[in-house]
Amino acid sequence: MARILLTGGAGYIGSHTYVALVSAGYDVTILDDFSNSDPGVIDRLARLTGAEVDLVRGSVLDRGVLGRLFASRAFDGVVHFAALKAVGESVEKPLDYFETNIGGLIALMQAMKAAGVLRIVFSSTATVYGAATVFPIPETAPLSHTSPYGFTKLTCERILSQAAAADPWQVGVLRYFNPVGAHPSGMIGEDPRGIPNNLMPYLAKVALGEMPELRVFGDDYDTPDGTCWRDYIHVVDLARAHVQSLDALMEGRGHVLNIGTGTPTSVLEMHRAYSDVVGRDLPMRIVGRRAGDVARSYADPSRARAELGFEAEHGLEEMCRSSWNWVQAQKEGWRFNS
Ligand code: WQD
Repeated sequence: MARILLTGGAGYIGSHTYVALVSAGYDVTILDDFSNSDPGVIDRLARLTGAEVDLVRGSVLDRGVLGRLFASRAFDGVVHFAALKAVGESVEKPLDYFETNIGGLIALMQAMKAAGVLRIVFSSTATVYGAATVFPIPETAPLSHTSPYGFTKLTCERILSQAAAADPWQVGVLRYFNPVGAHPSGMIGEDPRGIPNNLMPYLAKVALGEMPELRVFGDDYDTPDGTCWRDYIHVVDLARAHVQSLDALMEGRGHVLNIGTGTPTSVLEMHRAYSDVVGRDLPMRIVGRRAGDVARSYADPSRARAELGFEAEHGLEEMCRSSWNWVQAQKEGWRFNS
């Protein structure tokens, strides 16, 4: 049975990938310092999978933790999620982002190389396309960064590519578009700290009555309804893409792939879909644009289909329904979802 290390495995995408990998027959170890995740998720992962979770509490920046971890377990591959990921925060704290995201990858890769583990799936982002001009966006589109966060992801992709020239690294780079939704059980989901920056978790707070209204950041963009287009992908589909990525690496097939649906959705369409799931018109108001937003971002998903056989299966209604189910279960303390 192949054993995989998930760094940041207690986080939003990491926890969903944990469930998908266990279901696919992998043995999985989670390394997480809980700097941006709830330790309570570990118990819920154990309940979801019916087995104890092999958890190591620590940071990818801690070379002692990494050394002991790779000496104690024989890994066949690593999925690297552990990173800082808030675009706005990265503008305020660029050095923290360089240290954690770039320094963390280097520390991890050095520990992996020392242990002879050279398979890695890297969590990247469509942000590396900057303000794209060709749609849908192919992997061959020009790369640029519009924030320190985007700079760290682009730099990490280049480090992985350069390292593979020196040693036989098998690398899977997955460029996520906009991950949303939650596991249908309602046991795991997105759990942002403080006021959410992202659209769907903010809509969820409005639906719960914890925020008064959705502020729509601009309706004067070059799109049919004037609000920004994004490629939202259900986190359960995204988790499955990681399993297929690892499967490909186990066969020696590296890749750099968009993980999206290929279908753009506007802010107003998302607001409508979430309102339909909740059963009432969620309050919203059009306000000014948010700095840094691009009008359009949606994937050409054809290379992931060709190289992994990956295709997104969940639509907008299920994305919203699973999110609404999750936030209600979380508020109720999972009494009715256990
Ligand atoms: C989507 C649309 C907003 C909130 C970001 C990161 C990206 C990735 C995913 C890490 C935009 C609008 C939002 C609100 C709104 N993260 N919006 N009111 O900006 O596409 O991507 O998260 O990898 O790197 O950049 O996602 O959900 O923040 O915004 O009108 O209260 O919703 O203007 O058009 P984004 P988002």
